[in-house]
Amino acid sequence: MTGIAGRVVAITGASSGIGAATATHLAGKGARLVLGARRKDRLHAVVDQIVAQGGSAVGAVIDVTRREDLKLLTDTAVHQFGRLDVLVSNAGTMAVSPFDELLQDDWDAMVATHVNGLLNGIGAALPVFRRQHSGQFVNVASTAAYIVKSPQGVYAATKTAVKVLTEALRQESGPHLRVTLVSPGFTNTEGVGKGASPEAAAALVQQRDEIAIPPSAIASAIGFAIEQPSGVDISEVVVRPTVQT
Ligand SMILES: NC(=O)c1ccc[n+]([C@@H]2O[C@H](COP(=O)([O-])OP(=O)(O)OC[C@H]3O[C@@H](n4cnc5c(N)ncnc54)[C@H](OP(=O)(O)O)[C@@H]3O)[C@@H](O)[C@H]2O)c1
Repeated sequence: MTGIAGRVVAITGASSGIGAATATHLAGKGARLVLGARRKDRLHAVVDQIVAQGGSAVGAVIDVTRREDLKLLTDTAVHQFGRLDVLVSNAGTMAVSPFDELLQDDWDAMVATHVNGLLNGIGAALPVFRRQHSGQFVNVASTAAYIVKSPQGVYAATKTAVKVLTEALRQESGPHLRVTLVSPGFTNTEGVGKGASPEAAAALVQQRDEIAIPPSAIASAIGFAIEQPSGVDISEVVVRPTVQT
């Protein structure tokens, strides 16, 4: 299978930002979508907009930190469309803070969302992909997986884990599966600074407003990785503003 039309793509964190932009981009190219996130109203707004524009999408209210919710997402794809071609693990939280603030619930949330969330996706989708003898993981990391900047220590560590797990999965994936890491730099979404400590949030929002690229830039990179012929693996893509250091 080549191209995007007809592919069944599940996306976590599809209720806003990069996930919603990716859903819209892929729907415009004829993908069939299963969209997951926690906020039901925002998720259904994305689904409804895609369907209103003639696209194919269904929503599943999921929390990626829950193993059974990822199973629900992949089961929905198989029941609704008969297969799953791509899982985009994009759900994330950028609630960064200096260590001295001891915001340990936020640390835990980043580990649970980025590390456990990714593993839950692998656990749910890998058996489906093996059965089909085809499938693609697209895992969203960050430029923070390449350069650590305070106070993003925990965030950077979890995104580095995403990078490491993605490479290890690629090595074990064999000839039939594809594994792609997409690492965005500053991207103009509501998630930048959300939940971060006030000083960190202000700095991030300021930088976002000055230099960020639109989420459609990340969406088209994900589309590029998906539309390659089945034997071609785009293993790693970093997409950032030209002015980002
Ligand atoms: N924007 C940037 O500058 C930037 C840069 C590098 C990497 N990234 C990464 O890109 C990804 C998307 O972020 P974004 O910028 O698009 O921010 P966003 O608009 O806040 O999107 C985050 C998405 O993740 C979902 N989410 C968060 N926790 C979840 C959970 N436990 N279960 C299910 N869904 C969950 C949110 O939906 P609900 O709240 O409805 O669940 C939302 O749809 C994240 O992994 C982020 O780390 C962003």
